[in-house]
Amino acid sequence: MLVLYAGDVPREPDNEPVVPPDPSTASSLIGLDDLEPPDWVTVDEQVVAANLWRTLRGMPRAVRLVVGLAWGTARRLTLLAAIVQVLSGCVTAFGLLATANVFTSLLEAGPTPHRVVASLPAIALVVGSYAARALLDGIVAAVQGALVPRVRHAARDAVYEAIVEVDLLAWEDADFRELVRQGAQTGVSRVETAIRGTADVTSSLVSMVAAVATVGVLNPWLAPVLLIAAAADGWTAMRVAKLGYESFLRIVSQDMRRYVLERLIGERDLAMERHALTLHGTLLAEDRRISSGITAEAVALARRQNRVRMAGRALAGLGSGAAYTVLGVLLYVGAMPLALAATAVVAMRTASTALANTMQGVNELFEDSLYLGFYRRLLADARARSRPRTGVIAPADPSVIRLEHVSFSYPGADSSALTDVDLTIRRGEVVALVGQNGSGKSTLAMLLTGLYRPTTGRVLWDDVDLASADAESVHSRIAVIAQDPARWPMSAASNVRVGRLEHDDPDGQRWASVLRMSGADEVVAALPHGPQTVLSKQFRGGHDLSTGQWQRIGIARGAYRDAPILIADEPTAALDAKAEARVFAGLEAASRTSTGGPARTTVLITHRLANTRPADRIVVLDGGRVVEEGTHDTLISQSGGLYRELFEIQAQAYRTG
Ligand SMILES: Nc1ncnc2c1ncn2[C@@H]1O[C@H](COP(=O)(O)OP(=O)(O)OP(=O)(O)O)[C@@H](O)[C@H]1O
Ligand SMILES: [Mg+2]
Repeated sequence: MLVLYAGDVPREPDNEPVVPPDPSTASSLIGLDDLEPPDWVTVDEQVVAANLWRTLRGMPRAVRLVVGLAWGTARRLTLLAAIVQVLSGCVTAFGLLATANVFTSLLEAGPTPHRVVASLPAIALVVGSYAARALLDGIVAAVQGALVPRVRHAARDAVYEAIVEVDLLAWEDADFRELVRQGAQTGVSRVETAIRGTADVTSSLVSMVAAVATVGVLNPWLAPVLLIAAAADGWTAMRVAKLGYESFLRIVSQDMRRYVLERLIGERDLAMERHALTLHGTLLAEDRRISSGITAEAVALARRQNRVRMAGRALAGLGSGAAYTVLGVLLYVGAMPLALAATAVVAMRTASTALANTMQGVNELFEDSLYLGFYRRLLADARARSRPRTGVIAPADPSVIRLEHVSFSYPGADSSALTDVDLTIRRGEVVALVGQNGSGKSTLAMLLTGLYRPTTGRVLWDDVDLASADAESVHSRIAVIAQDPARWPMSAASNVRVGRLEHDDPDGQRWASVLRMSGADEVVAALPHGPQTVLSKQFRGGHDLSTGQWQRIGIARGAYRDAPILIADEPTAALDAKAEARVFAGLEAASRTSTGGPARTTVLITHRLANTRPADRIVVLDGGRVVEEGTHDTLISQSGGLYRELFEIQAQAYRTG
C-alpha cells in the first residue's frame, strides 16, 4: 500500500514547472566546474603578486609567529635553540679564520718542515672547530627534537581551541570549512617546517656574515663580487617557490573537487548507493578528469621551475667566474699576496655555500610564511566567528520563550528561511511545529534554542535576548533530538551518556528509564557487548545499527540530557509503530511532573499529524511564515486551512485502506 505523508505532497498546483537539466551541458558531475575559489585565496593572490622587497618584508611576520609560538610553548628550549644556532654559526666562522691562519703559515717563506710545525697550532684550532661544530650540530638536533613536537602540538591546540568556539552557523560557510582544512592540516605542518627553517636560516646567516667578512678582510673587492654570484641562487630559489604557489592557487578549486571525489570513491557512507547506482565507472572517470587537469598543471609547473633553475645556474656560474677573475686580477696586479689566495678561495666557497643556504632557507621560509597565512587567517577567522563572552547568563528555566519579528537567512542564501515570525511558548507547554518540507520547522527550532541567531528580530528567554547571552549558558539548558541524529563513533553507553556526561547516575536509574522510553533498551540488549559495544565501523569489531535503531539511541541521548527545553525534530520518523507510541507517551509524561504541573517545555516537530493531537498548541508554518496556530480541534475546524488539508490527506490514506 502506498502511504503518502503530507510533507511529500505539493499543496498548490500552481508550482512552477521544474525544468530537467540538459544532459548535454552537464559536463561536470559535481555541477560546478568553475568553482569560485574561497575568499582567502584572493588575499593570497596579492601576496604572490608581491615583489622581492615585499616578500622579504613579510618574512619577519612568519619568523615572529613561529618564534612567538615556540617562546609561548617552551621558553628555555627556545632560548637554548637560539643560542646553539648562533654558536654553531660562530664556530664555522672561527674555523674559517683558523683555516686562513693555516694557509698563511704554510705558504710563508722558509723550509717546509718548519712551516708545517709552525702551522700546527692553527691546524689544531681548525680540527677543534670542526669537533665543536659536530658537537653543536648534535645539540641543535637534540634541542630541535624536543622543541618542534611541542610547538607543533601548541599550534594544533590553538587551532582546535579556536574552532570549538566558532558559532554553529560558521559551519554552513564552505569557505570557512575549506580554511579549516587548509589551516589545520597544511598550516600546522608548516609551523614545523618554519621552525626548522628559522633555525637553519639563523645559523647559515651567521656563517655567511662571517665568511663574507673574512673575504672582505682579505680584500674588500672580493666581497661584493661574491654576493653577486650568490644572489643568482637566491633569485632562483625565490622564483621557484613563487611559481609553486601560483600553481597551487590555480588548482585550488580543482583540488577541492578532487578531495570531494576521493571521499565519494573511498567512503563507506556512500558505498551502498555507489554500488546500487553502478556509479563506480562514472566516479572514476570524473576523478581522472579532474586529476588529469591537476597532473597537467604539475607537469607544466615542473617545466617552468626547471627553466628558472637552469637560468639561475647559468647566472651563478657567470657570477663565480667573475669572482675568480677578480681574484686573478688582484693577484696579477699584486693587490693581494699569494699566501692569502688559498684562504680567499676557501672563504669564497664557504661564503657562497652559506649564502646559497641562507637564500634557500629564506625562500623556504617565505613559502612557509604563505602557508602560515592560512594558519593565521584560520585563527583570526575562527575568533571573529566565535560568540563573544558577554557574561549575560540565560535563565536556567525560562518561563517564557518569545520570538519577536524573527527573520533568518542561511549564509549565501538568496531567500530567507523564516520571515517575520512572532511566537510565544510558555514553560511546560507542548508545542507542535507542523508544515511541509522546507517550511522552516527545523530552522525555527534552531532559533528558539539559541543555536542560530536571527538575522533580524529577537529571541528572548524571559527578558534575556539570546543574541547577547553566553552561548554555553543557553545551550546547557536545551536538549535536541535531531532530525538526523549524529552517529557518534563511540560505545552505545557513551552514545547515550554524551547527552550529559556530568550526570551522576550511580544506580543507573536514569539510564534505564531513558532506554525504556526510547526503545533503545532492545537495541542495546541485542548488541554483542551490550552497552560497551562500539557503534562505528571505523574500528575493528565495531557495530553499526539500522536507521531506526540509531534514532532510538538519539532519543535516549536527548532524554538523558534532561534539560528544561526539549526539541524533538521528527523523533520517530524511522521508528516502528510500537516504538513510536512508547516514545510519544514518554515525551508526554516527561513534560509534566508527577503531580501534573509543568516539568519541561517541549517543541515537537512531526509530519505524522496524528501525533500532534496531545500537543497544547500546534503552530503551522508555510514558506517560512507562521500561517496558523491553535489546538488540534480549532485548526481542524478551519475550512480551507493548511493544517486541516494536511490532516485530511493523511486520514484519507488510512480510511481508504
Ligand atoms: N544548512 C542550510 N543551508 C542553507 N539553506 C538551508 C539549510 N537548511 C535548510 N535550509 C533552507 O531553509 C529552509 C527551511 O529549512 P528547514 O530545514 O527549516 O525546513 P523544515 O521545515 O525543517 O523541512 P523538513 O520537513 O524537510 O525537515 C528551506 O528552504 C531549506 O532549503
Ligand atoms: Mg526539518
